[in-house]
Amino acid sequence: MTKKHRVLVSERIAEEGLAMLRSELEVDYRDGIGRAELLNIIKDYDALIVRSVTQVDEELVAAGTRLKMVGRAGNGIDNIDVHACTRRGIVVANTPDSNTISAAEQTMALMLCSLRHTAEANAFLKAGNWDRKPFRGMELYGKTVGIVGLGRIGSMVATRVKSFGTRVIAYDPYIPDERFERFGAEKKETLEELVREADIITVHTPRNEETMGMIGAREFAMAKDGVRVVNCARGGIISEAALVEALKSGKVGSAGLDVFEEEPARQNPLFAFKNVVVTPHLGADTVEAQRRVGVTIAEQVIKGLRGELVPNVVNLPTVLRSELEVLSPYIELAEKMGSLYYQMERSPVDRIELSFSGDIAQQETGLLTIAFLKGLLSGVMSEKVNYVNARIKADERGIKVFERKEEKQVKGYVNLISAKVFNRGHDLQVAGTLTGAGRPYIVEINDFETDMFPVGNVLIAINEDRPGVIGPFTTELGKAGINISMMRVGSKGSMNLMVVNVDGEVDERTLARLRAVDGIVKVHLVRFR
Ligand code: NAD
Ligand code: MLT
Repeated sequence: MTKKHRVLVSERIAEEGLAMLRSELEVDYRDGIGRAELLNIIKDYDALIVRSVTQVDEELVAAGTRLKMVGRAGNGIDNIDVHACTRRGIVVANTPDSNTISAAEQTMALMLCSLRHTAEANAFLKAGNWDRKPFRGMELYGKTVGIVGLGRIGSMVATRVKSFGTRVIAYDPYIPDERFERFGAEKKETLEELVREADIITVHTPRNEETMGMIGAREFAMAKDGVRVVNCARGGIISEAALVEALKSGKVGSAGLDVFEEEPARQNPLFAFKNVVVTPHLGADTVEAQRRVGVTIAEQVIKGLRGELVPNVVNLPTVLRSELEVLSPYIELAEKMGSLYYQMERSPVDRIELSFSGDIAQQETGLLTIAFLKGLLSGVMSEKVNYVNARIKADERGIKVFERKEEKQVKGYVNLISAKVFNRGHDLQVAGTLTGAGRPYIVEINDFETDMFPVGNVLIAINEDRPGVIGPFTTELGKAGINISMMRVGSKGSMNLMVVNVDGEVDERTLARLRAVDGIVKVHLVRFR
């Protein structure tokens, strides 16, 4: 890792995370930096670390000409234009699991606090008053809690409210039934059903076009009188305008809010209601969560700037840390297989068919496809091609990609990646696997069996399968002072495929001599990094 990589941290993260970043990178910690200055200086940084306030939009991303990575110290990515980042090959990574417990506990705090008027009573007592009548609360026990979005946080809220003796109902059309059962929540097929039955509604979805305002005037109208609401997800999922009206009319009995449509929220009309408990987006603000978030994002940014794949990359298929360990050598193999094509052929690619067989088929093979495309396009494009934008770049070039998985073993290999690259008459077929020691090797090229370690410089030759061809070929290499480190010949009909790993460079003159050997049909020099 070079000290040249520069990171800008534009919002507060834990000291432990900053220390980790500083041990490897040049770090500027500018919590609360203004937009104009940020736009001005972003061009000098390789990575940007934000929380939920910094807007990483098209304008900022375009100004960040050196940016390779955006780290979201936290979960929600609604302040990041992921598509704009993806188009430019900028990796976006977040820390989705680091603050879920804290957010679930904050939800509980807001729920209980609003049911028991804790915040209001606290202010009342500290102002020198003593009375109990205005603060008569309501038990959570025996109530129906409606959870909208049964993901990481929603499910933790489910198990927590359940322990209070509640009935839990949930609406989440995007998860399997088994998840409702696991968390003891009754599945509701529609939001309307949930809204009609719940005494307390708590929202835990991402904020997007579909969820913005999903609890609005229509939903309040059909809700129970005096319904309680909690929003510890994102401002606007419960429409603030509709909530103000529902509080005024008494339809809503209380609200607990950690997040607001506009943040920082200073003049919000909801602050005027006694039965609304508010906190300034504190869901993730615990010592434990901030330590986890800070350290995790630091680790991810350091890895990302090293060019390594990191878990929790938002603009790549979702891969867990444990899956990444299994996939890493296959990623290297797929990338090397992809890099073969343009080193052997010059015609543009129309279509690629990839097939993954054996145990590997159970993994997130989308990442292997991306690695293959990165290998294919890296050598021939002036723009940066990386794991993040390789698919987009392939799409832009009109390359159609098809993937197939089969869990059974093919050709006796425990795992096999096979690729067919089609173009106008210059197709390439290649298959590869890992050795027992986990090293990538190529086992087939254009239906010739082979054993090729894709490392360093390799000569791939087609020759007539007869005596007097291979000897003169290797003699030419000897004459040029080039050592052969490995060689394998595979036959098919009257032809051989000769694969020769050589130490050092092979210049154009030597290549011309090799091509001129009687019986040699073709010679390619391929280089693997
Ligand atoms: P998650 O992705 O694990 O879960 C979200 C769930 O919402 C998913 O199960 C998804 O299927 C469901 N969903 C999506 N659209 C839906 C819809 N239209 N109707 C019903 N369900 C829908 O996310 P998470 O980690 O649980 O985070 C939940 C929310 O909490 C996010 O908005 C996140 O930004 C926010 N958050 C807030 C804080 C805070 O400080 N207040 C901290 C962490 C996370
Ligand atoms: C998150 O999405 O992680 C939360 O909003 C918390 C935060 O941004 O700190």
